[in-house]
Amino acid sequence: MDLRIKTFEEYEHAYNASIADPEAFWSSIAEKFVWYKKWDTVLDWNFEEPRVKWFEGGKLNITENMLDRYLVDQPDKIAFHWEPNDPEGTNQSITYKELYHEVCKTANALRSLGVKKGDRVCLYMPMRLEAIISIIACARIGAVHSIVFAGFSSAALSDRINDAQAKVVLTSDGLNRGTKQVDLKSMVDEALESCDTVESVIVLNCIDSSPNMVEGRDYDFNELIQDMDNECEPEPMDSEDLLFILYTSGSTGKPKGVVHTCGGYMLFTAYSFQNVFQYQDDDVFWCTADIGWITGHSYIVYGPLLSGATSIVFEGVPTYPDAGRFWQVCEKYKVNQFYTAPTAIRALMGFGLDYVNKYDLSALKVIGSVGEPINEEAWRWYYDHIGKSKCPVVDTWWQTETGGIMLSGLGNLSPMKATYAGYPLPGIQPVLLNGEGEEIKENNEEGYLCMKFPWPSILRTSYGDHERCKNTYFSNYEGYYFTGDGAKRDENGMYRIIGRVDDVINVSGHRFGTAEIEDAINTNEFAIESAVVGFPHDVKGQGIYAYVVVDNDLKNGTEEIIASLSESVIDGIGRIARPDKIQIVSGLPKTRSGKIMRRILRKIAEGERTNFGDTSTLLDPSVVEQIIQNAL
Ligand code: PRX
Repeated sequence: MDLRIKTFEEYEHAYNASIADPEAFWSSIAEKFVWYKKWDTVLDWNFEEPRVKWFEGGKLNITENMLDRYLVDQPDKIAFHWEPNDPEGTNQSITYKELYHEVCKTANALRSLGVKKGDRVCLYMPMRLEAIISIIACARIGAVHSIVFAGFSSAALSDRINDAQAKVVLTSDGLNRGTKQVDLKSMVDEALESCDTVESVIVLNCIDSSPNMVEGRDYDFNELIQDMDNECEPEPMDSEDLLFILYTSGSTGKPKGVVHTCGGYMLFTAYSFQNVFQYQDDDVFWCTADIGWITGHSYIVYGPLLSGATSIVFEGVPTYPDAGRFWQVCEKYKVNQFYTAPTAIRALMGFGLDYVNKYDLSALKVIGSVGEPINEEAWRWYYDHIGKSKCPVVDTWWQTETGGIMLSGLGNLSPMKATYAGYPLPGIQPVLLNGEGEEIKENNEEGYLCMKFPWPSILRTSYGDHERCKNTYFSNYEGYYFTGDGAKRDENGMYRIIGRVDDVINVSGHRFGTAEIEDAINTNEFAIESAVVGFPHDVKGQGIYAYVVVDNDLKNGTEEIIASLSESVIDGIGRIARPDKIQIVSGLPKTRSGKIMRRILRKIAEGERTNFGDTSTLLDPSVVEQIIQNAL
């Protein structure tokens, strides 16, 4: 299925057509997919409610478009090469036909456990082919998958299971990450102590650890699927039926379940995949993200398979056994398109070029970046040393909520500018708004990045809380979807993302709400009150700085308290959210009305010591003096 634009002129033409008549534009793309029944309406929308429906009344199953349709022309084409954590381990390759049968068996296994269309299934799994098979198996039977990154803690897992009311959990005994082995099954057991909707747990053996299995609840993955039929009727879904939920952090409260639906997500992930990466039939694509994040959903699983592509699934980490691992894998599979995060690039830059130059990267055609702003130095290094100054860098800006890439160059078609994400994809209508909610027409002015028209894979709701979806994304500026990012546009129409303008921190391309981290800290017995802010970090992009007021009556050493506070974040969220700096303070700077002045805390975390702007509303200026004296 070829959805590729092939020249920049064609892009301009497609873009203009998509704005002039979005319904005609997306219908012509929808026609290329397999539908059991055509849609009744192309688009029905209203950003005030918000309500967005694409291709309603259309019946399809997304997996039919990922697997069945390729059984005729390319059953023996490799869908995935799986590369294990240990380079000496045995890699695996799976063809479209084999994948189809494995998916059918797993789908039948889920059905045998009573999973039906609309039921939620939670995955807490390592980067194994079985994880991908399980995701597609859910979609095959119309179950809604909710993948939880296997680095989250058991408390974070149980929150997500409960919010989604999941019926089944798929997990493994453990996982390998570099030199470490992580036990997953005991985390699931702990999480399930506070979840009462889960009826069954399916456990994949990854580390031969003979985990505790609960009689009547837990099943061994391979035993369960081995006798299942390798054909499974796909569940007919409406275009607007739920495909998945993915939890992501916002500026307030607990992470919320972003909801994506079948038809629109299918169109946009395939379309963006083929165009941004300029993927061609025999190419090998590699996205290094984990399936627990949206990047893994859209550009390991859905976009590539919908396009009939061959891609890599990598279990390991970029620095194991050494900092050459990414490049060794690129050489081994002759990777043509490579897609990673700036944090990985910055980390690898630090190890020097010997690790790069050992390997043949000549197959690379396009190199991509995602998840956070890429600084100029990292961009240059990536372009010069990985792309050898011949591969375009596609700096792809998007979000869990957008489902697919929104702003980016298209392979080698578009002009490039370091640190600029580039142009909107066809169908995407970005605007920059000022504080009054007016569109900024001038060039090179910073504004709030919003979208004024729906695209097929825009989130539909926050699971179980439509009001929250409305308040978070559609209420700041009436009639617009608000991204939470600041951006500017140059004289050529290219966009540069400045970063979040809300209380969301982006650590190594992963999103955390400051409130979420504060909540975890505040569960600690020593903590009375806390405030968390981000600060610039050379490798992670942003680091986490926590200011904590602790109970003075407790006679514990500071180091012990700090370790304990850190542990609370690890327990509440996961190791990935552990603060880089924890400062014990006697008080937080507050206004007379009791609001924490985060602006001041942010400046101190950034290294500012004198210039804090207007501080006249501070209740007690001496608090700031004290914080500065002990700042880390
Ligand atoms: O701030 C933007 C940043 O990541 C946020 C979205 O995070 P998440 O939903 O976890 O999705 C990440 C992967 C798509 C955005 O609001 N972000 C993402 N890509 C870029 C980026 N910031 C700058 N440049 C990017 N290319």
